[in-house]
Amino acid sequence: MKESDERIVFDGMTVPPFAPLKKNAKERFEEIRNLEYKEDDVILTTFPKSGTNWFWEIICMLLKGKAEYVKEAKVSVFLEAIPDLNVVHGLASPRALNTHVPYRWLPKQHLERNGKIVHVIRNPKDVAVSMYYHFKSSGNINDDCHFKTFLEQIFLSAACPMGSWFDYEKEFEQAKTTDKDHIILTVHYESMKKNPIEETRRLGKFLNVELSDQQIADIVDKCSFQKLRHAAETFKDLSHREKITDTGEGAIRKPPNIYRKGEIGDWKNHFTVAMSEHFDTIFREKMKDSNIQVQFE
Ligand code: A3P
Repeated sequence: MKESDERIVFDGMTVPPFAPLKKNAKERFEEIRNLEYKEDDVILTTFPKSGTNWFWEIICMLLKGKAEYVKEAKVSVFLEAIPDLNVVHGLASPRALNTHVPYRWLPKQHLERNGKIVHVIRNPKDVAVSMYYHFKSSGNINDDCHFKTFLEQIFLSAACPMGSWFDYEKEFEQAKTTDKDHIILTVHYESMKKNPIEETRRLGKFLNVELSDQQIADIVDKCSFQKLRHAAETFKDLSHREKITDTGEGAIRKPPNIYRKGEIGDWKNHFTVAMSEHFDTIFREKMKDSNIQVQFE
């Protein structure tokens, strides 16, 4: 983060610099926790940079039963970032909401009424690289900030947005141990990348959507990296993005570049052997009680 930036800490986490969180993080977290449930709501929950935009588009198409882009962008229902959370009340069902808040802050009613949760997990080395470029493109770190500096001083430090990848994922893993009604579906970014047809079909089944093989294949095609990037550049209504990145109130200076590379293993181009070994040591220590099988390639 730039030296001029003040970290906003809430519930032990550095929170991203979105206007509502800058204004009053406690208030927005509580509003999210108290969000009223509507029948058929789906919440997409991810640690930042795990493929949220991609999965949100797939979920929207599955729920509509059509391989067609919706005009809105994922940020229009991004619970902690949109200026006014009340706008989601007026949306037609089924609503596909999205958030990076940790499990303990997810809407209470949604959990009590067995609302569906799609949880996406991506390997933390690629998440770190993706976040580095996100921070750079949005002006949250200086252009000359090296990846190693970012990794040490932000990603692996208390300055990492939404706590840490490790805590976020372990909290989800713990929540899943008591998920007897199977309201949480975890999908690995890497599995979706390697087997998009099977994983999209699995996601559809979880959402109680029956689609033909052709419809699934069309959704996979429309949600490929190149096509989504093109849709974002040519079709999507990004006015919400402008609002949440508005420099007047928000701290994000420019809209970030979301569709950057979309690959598994770009971390190999950014971590030296020593950095990777150091990361692995931290990973082993932090995840020693976890059974999460992360796919680094
Ligand atoms: P990279 O920066 O590694 O390219 P989020 O939406 O949570 O911010 O995540 C953004 C990451 O998801 C970016 O990763 C982006 O390129 C990747 N992504 C977006 N659409 C994708 C797709 N269709 N296939 C694979 N990755 C995709």
